[in-house]
This record gives sequence, C-alpha cells and structure tokens, in this order.
Amino acid sequence: MADKIRVLVSEEEVDKRIKEVGEQISKDYEGQEVHVICVLKGGVFFMCELAKRITVPLSMDFMSVSSYGNEKQSSGVVKIVKDLDEALEGKNVIIVEDIIDSGRTLSYLVEILKKRNPKSLKICTLLDKPERRVTDVKVDYVGFNIPDEFVVGYGLDYAQKYRNLPFIGVVEE
Ligand code: IMP
Ligand code: MG
Repeated sequence: MADKIRVLVSEEEVDKRIKEVGEQISKDYEGQEVHVICVLKGGVFFMCELAKRITVPLSMDFMSVSSYGNEKQSSGVVKIVKDLDEALEGKNVIIVEDIIDSGRTLSYLVEILKKRNPKSLKICTLLDKPERRVTDVKVDYVGFNIPDEFVVGYGLDYAQKYRNLPFIGVVEE
C-alpha cells in the first residue's frame, strides 16, 4: 500500500524560494564565475532548478557520498562513491546539498574539498534541520529551515522512493 504523505513545503513555495536563492547567488558572485557541485542523488532536483536561476557563468560537477543506508538515521560513516570529474583549483565552488541534518556528510566533504585549493568554498542547501546538528559547519545559503521530521520529495528519498515528488513532504507512519 502507498504511504501517506503530508505536504510540508508546497511546490509553489519551493519554486519561489529557489528563485530567490538563485538571485542572491547571482548578486554575490557578480563579475565572477561559479562552479556548482551537486551532491548526488538528493541534490539533483535542487541543483537543476537553482542553476537555471543563476545568471553568472556557471559550470557543474557531480559527486556521490554515502552516509545513509535505507534507515532514517545517520550511520556516521561517510564514503565517496563517485568523485568529481574536474579539479577545483582556483574556482568559486558552491556545494549544493538537499538537506543538512547532523552535518556529518558536509563536514567531511568540506574537509576533503578544501584540500583541492578552490578560490572559495560555499555551501547551499535546500533544507536545514538546525536542531539536529552535531558538527560545526557554516551554511551560506539555506532554502528552508525545517523541524526535526523525516522529509521526502524534491530529490529526498525514503528507501530510494519519493525523490520525484515536486514538493517536500513528510511520510506519515
Ligand atoms: P547528515 O550527514 O546527517 O547531515 O545527513 C545528510 C544526508 O542524510 C542528506 O544529504 C540526506 O541524504 C540524508 N537525510 C537527512 N535527513 C533526511 C530526511 O529528512 N529525509 C531524507 N534524507 C535525509
Ligand atoms: Mg544528500
């Protein structure tokens, strides 16, 4: 039987907010180029919509790390499943994430990407659950702060399902 999903952030709200974040980034990087890194798979919908709203010259790369299995809880173990294709040397890098929960995944990513000498490194996330943070990680752009609930949609999955929902929802138990 299909799970029941309650809408937390509607499609209209998500679209509107992504447009705003894109405008902010375009303003902040005026006269420069940005290199956006999508953290697969969750970041892919956000990355595509966001990139369309950024007006400065932009390049993209993709990376896949895993810290979650099919469980709703972080394992604390992070590994690179797919590394970037391009070097980061001298680039204005923006990491694009679906959600920051404990912050473990991102802390690890920032650590390894900084060693590749980007000109600058910023973090952009569609969703943030600040209550859940266990690491000290600075987030530069946040779409929405959300309460401590497990969400799906707009790239986020529960056991690989629901990534394709055009809104952010909560799976009702
Ligand atoms: P963190 O390392 O605890 O910050 O977890 C980050 C990753 O966990 C995200 O990129 C997601 O893949 C996954 N995650 C955390 N919270 C949720 C959620 O509410 N729904 C779906 N995936 C989540
Ligand atoms: Mg993710």
